[in-house]
Amino acid sequence: MDKNDGPAAPLRREHWASRIGFIMAAAGSAVGLGNVWRFPYVAGENGGGVFLVVYLALVFTLGLSIMVAEFTIGRAAQRNPVGACRTLGGRRWAPLGYLGLVAGFLILSFYVVVAGWTLTYAFKLATGGLGASAGEPAETFAAFVADPLQTIPAAAVFMVLTVAIVLGGVKGGIERANLVLMPLLFVILVGLAVRAVTLPGAGAGLSFYLAPDFSALSIDTLTRALGQAFFSLSIGLGAMITYGSYLDRGQNIPRAAGWVAGLDTLAAILAGFAILPAVFAAGLNPEAGPGLAFVVLPTVFASMPLGEFFGTLFFILLAIAALTSSISLLEPLVAYFIDEHGLHRGKVTVLVAFAAFALSVPSALSLGPWSGFTVFGKSLLDLLDAVTAGILLPAGGLLIAIFVGWVIGPKAIFELGLAKPEASAAAKVWLWILRLPAPVAIAWILITWAAA
Ligand code: TRP
Repeated sequence: MDKNDGPAAPLRREHWASRIGFIMAAAGSAVGLGNVWRFPYVAGENGGGVFLVVYLALVFTLGLSIMVAEFTIGRAAQRNPVGACRTLGGRRWAPLGYLGLVAGFLILSFYVVVAGWTLTYAFKLATGGLGASAGEPAETFAAFVADPLQTIPAAAVFMVLTVAIVLGGVKGGIERANLVLMPLLFVILVGLAVRAVTLPGAGAGLSFYLAPDFSALSIDTLTRALGQAFFSLSIGLGAMITYGSYLDRGQNIPRAAGWVAGLDTLAAILAGFAILPAVFAAGLNPEAGPGLAFVVLPTVFASMPLGEFFGTLFFILLAIAALTSSISLLEPLVAYFIDEHGLHRGKVTVLVAFAAFALSVPSALSLGPWSGFTVFGKSLLDLLDAVTAGILLPAGGLLIAIFVGWVIGPKAIFELGLAKPEASAAAKVWLWILRLPAPVAIAWILITWAAA
């Protein structure tokens, strides 16, 4: 028998150094471009307030349950997503792990492109390249993303940063970076939200964001909210399985997941406050699409004292938030090759990152010289984003729910190791959500959407 088959002996595995270190790493994975870049523009395109309501409902029901499920799988198996599914469910569940690895690879490839934009914007703000003389923010952005000589090197720099941290391993790299950087990001997001909300003309944006218009609710809103919930919480592909696999017993998983989902939601809501009121104050359209943050925020910075300084700081922190997320996209693949094929962290990290970057190049070009090639009217970058968040992550989440709900079953509650009786009542509700409502709801949303 091949040594990679079958239920191998326990692996020697690095573990998080502290409880808070794990929570910060998982929250660092969740909080990223999904909150600041993706959430405001998707909310803007889907009715604002009504999107927010649906989104919150999905995060704290399905989202939280699936996050707990992923942590549980990871800690129980102490393995990467493929190895974990195989160890706990037998060979036929390994494809669930592979599905996740593929999704992670695809997301990583376009994620570094967008992260490269934030790096470049930090640089441009610092050097005055986005000042009044630069012209209309919307045109500046359009010209910038169309220029591969700027976007491709920026994506490459970002991928190198990701590799550097993943090479450092779990404790020294991932955990240490997150502990410092996360709190800093929150402070600046609050400052930005306060400024945006007090801009003259912000009121219309506030009511768009906070007063839900339920007549705008459609199946499309639901699917977009579901995809956003998965993307933002980093669930559905096994990133949280991988982070859970570096846990030892003793951590309270539901409580940790509550913190992660809470911090992630807070960051998204704050980003909404920082961006949507400012869209209206500047007389822009909330349906501007993926460029929204990059078009609106320079206007906000221009209207504040020391705007260039705060703007630079903001985009640097956003790049860092993206970095603490991109490492969690690369790590599951790295863990897979280490655990299952006995390869060295160093070699694998570089090779996988290089392969993902090869796909970043056409993604970046798809907004510039290759913008003539579209599939279903979408550029490659938009297509990768739509397929991963809209289909692969929900499908992964659905299978994870079934896996924990039906295959692992009550043993999963045992793995949670909860002492108090109230806690085990909550755990029963959790298992029930995974068995029925979660798979049914996700399948229903996906099928209705596909049929429409
Ligand atoms: N959650 C991150 C964000 O909001 C992106 C991300 C990191 C992710 N790891 C993931 C998305 C795993 C899905 C699965 O920016």
